[in-house]
Amino acid sequence: MAEKKKLTVAEILAAARSSDGKGEAPTASPVASDSRPEDALPAEGASAKPTAAKPTAAKPTPAKPTPAAAQSAPGGARPSVADILAQARAKKASGEQPAASTAPSVKAKAPAPAATSVATKPAVATGGAKTGVQRDTASILAAARAAAKPGPTSKADAPTRPAAKPRESVKPAEEKAAPPRTVATLPPKPVKPAKKSATEGEDRRGFMQIALGSAMAMGFTALSVTGGLFTLGLARFMFPNVLAEPPSKFKVGFKDGFPQGKVETKYVAQYGVWVVNGDFQGQQQIYALKTVCTHLGCTPSWLEAEQKFKCPCHGSGFYKDGVNFEGPAPRPLERYAIRTADDGQLEIDKSKAFQEELGQWADPDSYITV
Ligand code: FES
Repeated sequence: MAEKKKLTVAEILAAARSSDGKGEAPTASPVASDSRPEDALPAEGASAKPTAAKPTAAKPTPAKPTPAAAQSAPGGARPSVADILAQARAKKASGEQPAASTAPSVKAKAPAPAATSVATKPAVATGGAKTGVQRDTASILAAARAAAKPGPTSKADAPTRPAAKPRESVKPAEEKAAPPRTVATLPPKPVKPAKKSATEGEDRRGFMQIALGSAMAMGFTALSVTGGLFTLGLARFMFPNVLAEPPSKFKVGFKDGFPQGKVETKYVAQYGVWVVNGDFQGQQQIYALKTVCTHLGCTPSWLEAEQKFKCPCHGSGFYKDGVNFEGPAPRPLERYAIRTADDGQLEIDKSKAFQEELGQWADPDSYITV
């Protein structure tokens, strides 16, 4: 890495001058060959002696001066770079070609078999001499720098850096070979109950309104019905019960319809009256007997065969004229008032009754003479 250190022009020239001033012959050491290209130029005699380029050139022993070097530099000293340049410029100015004393020597030594990795660099630097084109100082220095530092001289010449490797390539082999991580599957989260939508709330609100409205309606309806019933009861209380009794007076037909000794029972159920054509105290009369037992109010039955009224409750018996003769009855049956109506029919008035024990049967309203 130290060999590739960039050398300035001053350093190169100083190194060349120092080597010239010392009169040392160029060595085949790697350091000298890299920093001074002209030192690597072999002498003409070296081309004839391939042994001079043996690997022994790498030995630190200094090389022997060649006849070419003695020829190019009088007095045995090798010409410095400055001298070479000055000589070349002087020849260029005079229109002469550079002396072939040096160029051919360089050209002849370039293909020497002793060219190693170190010896080939000066051959590249002296390429201009091979072609015979005169080079200026700048090109020579550039060639020397290129030989001294093969790397890029500017940012633009620098090769582009390789793209950064992906991180996976940096990972160790074990990590790469590791099985892929298995993602633990979490149990499914419990499903949250869906939020009640606005429509459900409205439906419930509407339902509550309807229910409350229905309850209130039912309450008001029940209250109204109760009030109506109370009003009807009050009205019924204001009007007392009235028995739909038959009229107290009713007609039973003509006298001919009641034969002598006959007891008509057809008005018992409707009017509670027996119509009798019988004999009472030697007088034939038509009279109306009340069908109520004088004992406790039961209804006696007419027994045609026995010619008597018989009470089924306690056994009281009554004759055809209504006088009691057996049982607990204390007195005779009662009579209703009877009269002949304007149309000739017999009319019975139940509003008036006549009792025998009171002598009321003697009343002409209590009978009709036949
Ligand atoms: Fe007729 Fe008692 S009610 S006998």
